[in-house]
Amino acid sequence: MIRKLFIRSYGCQMNVYDAERMAELLAPLGFAATASPDDADIVILNTCHIREKAAEKVYSELGRLRAIKEARQGTGGELIIAVAGCVAQAEGAEIMRRQPAVDMVVGPQSYHRLPEMVARIVGTGKGGRTLLETDFDVERKFDELPRARGVRGPSAFLTIQEGCDRFCTFCVVPYTRGAEYSRPVGAVTGEARQLVAGGARELVLLGQNVNAYHGVADAGAPSWGLGRLIRHLAGIEGLARIRYTTSHPRDMDEELISAHRDIPQLMPFLHLPVQSGSDRILEAMNRRHRVGDYLRTVERLRSVRPDMALSSDFIVGFPGESDADFEATLALVRKVTFAQAYSFKYSPRPGTPAAIMERQLPDPIKEERLARLQDLITAQQREFNSKTVGRRLPVLLERRGRHSGQLAGRTPYMQAIHVEASEALVGSIVDVEISAAHAVSVTGTLAGADLGFVHACAGRPAPAPTPADRGEDVRIIA
Ligand code: SAH
Ligand code: SF4
Ligand code: F3S
Repeated sequence: MIRKLFIRSYGCQMNVYDAERMAELLAPLGFAATASPDDADIVILNTCHIREKAAEKVYSELGRLRAIKEARQGTGGELIIAVAGCVAQAEGAEIMRRQPAVDMVVGPQSYHRLPEMVARIVGTGKGGRTLLETDFDVERKFDELPRARGVRGPSAFLTIQEGCDRFCTFCVVPYTRGAEYSRPVGAVTGEARQLVAGGARELVLLGQNVNAYHGVADAGAPSWGLGRLIRHLAGIEGLARIRYTTSHPRDMDEELISAHRDIPQLMPFLHLPVQSGSDRILEAMNRRHRVGDYLRTVERLRSVRPDMALSSDFIVGFPGESDADFEATLALVRKVTFAQAYSFKYSPRPGTPAAIMERQLPDPIKEERLARLQDLITAQQREFNSKTVGRRLPVLLERRGRHSGQLAGRTPYMQAIHVEASEALVGSIVDVEISAAHAVSVTGTLAGADLGFVHACAGRPAPAPTPADRGEDVRIIA
């Protein structure tokens, strides 16, 4: 019997990657993906704990699922509700207390146990007990998870590093994802080859602190950093683009910076969160770098790759942030100029040192600073997009666009772009002349295609538009 599985992911790209692995793990048990919770036999909420709003969303969603479950039970049916991801890890017991309709809580390091947990529950009812798995066992997880196989589009995520040892004072990630762990070079390379063989033309290497990567290549030999890994992966035939996210400014070493000079597949775009432009606040955040260090790193990157486009994350209203501290953040943004960037109001997270710091700021101040910072960032993004008008850029066409006859893709600088083109071109890299700039995207017209590849991938169905293509806000972070 085919049973239906619905996974809803919140938060960062790693959750998207994990969701694909969970679906592959449950496939042998007869579960196939469905597009809505209404006809699912099992629903997994793959949650994010980074800010209060993200975590609270889970409980309202669970309320809706509970109603579906009760209606189902009324007709003799069943709906299994599972909570995975970072909220599961951080407050598993609280979830079980607040929403008894939940059958399973499974933390990010325990996904390899999912099949066994599901098998214990399906068709038997949970007997009044909720199954909880939140051990940290990351090495086993990667050994036992299936390698990424099913490629859903020409750009694929590949987790190479998980967890974080940096303990920024505002952040829950070290507690939800555990200690930093790098997958061995062989495992990463094998999965990368498999993804490319399955049709991926771009790999986005993922880690909470991806440039802290230090994977074992040969037993007893020194581990490899991210720069070396990228040089190695660039040798995979058919792999046209490599990106990585998210990096910490402290871990941008020379090997990685020079990879941006030497490796044509490595895209000239970097998400390098700085969080604040004030040294005092950076210190209180335990970021362990100063504004000057960040600016020097940006300068080094631009000296090896003059067209390097930059992105960042900012937190406004961190405890004790003065007007002058905030002005320093605006000054940093003006100095660097970003192609895009994300900014958030500081959200106190239980168990983190910043949550109990003095001088927590009132919400109206956070709001006002956020609005000013976002105005500046939006203006810079628009300016960046405008400067590409008239240029011819190679674009990886990834999926159908919002309108019929239109495809959506990315320029090397990570700009979202829409082009009138035939669906047969999905998966190919085409030259596009940029004709117009918008706030968060550009449009262009086809100037040429690498037709060799078009033949190779003709006939593969184009992936459906994503929420981003439909104009919805799907901020992906971390
Ligand atoms: N590993 C990445 C970031 C992971 S979280 C790094 O080192 O930068 C993604 C972003 O969420 C962070 O960069 C930060 O800007 C934001 N964030 C994290 N905790 C937050 C909090 N408590 N309140 C508001 N924003 C937060
Ligand atoms: Fe780690 Fe990034 Fe969180 Fe800092 S912000 S603790 S580096 S995940
Ligand atoms: Fe959220 Fe966990 Fe990612 S807290 S940002 S889902 S690592």
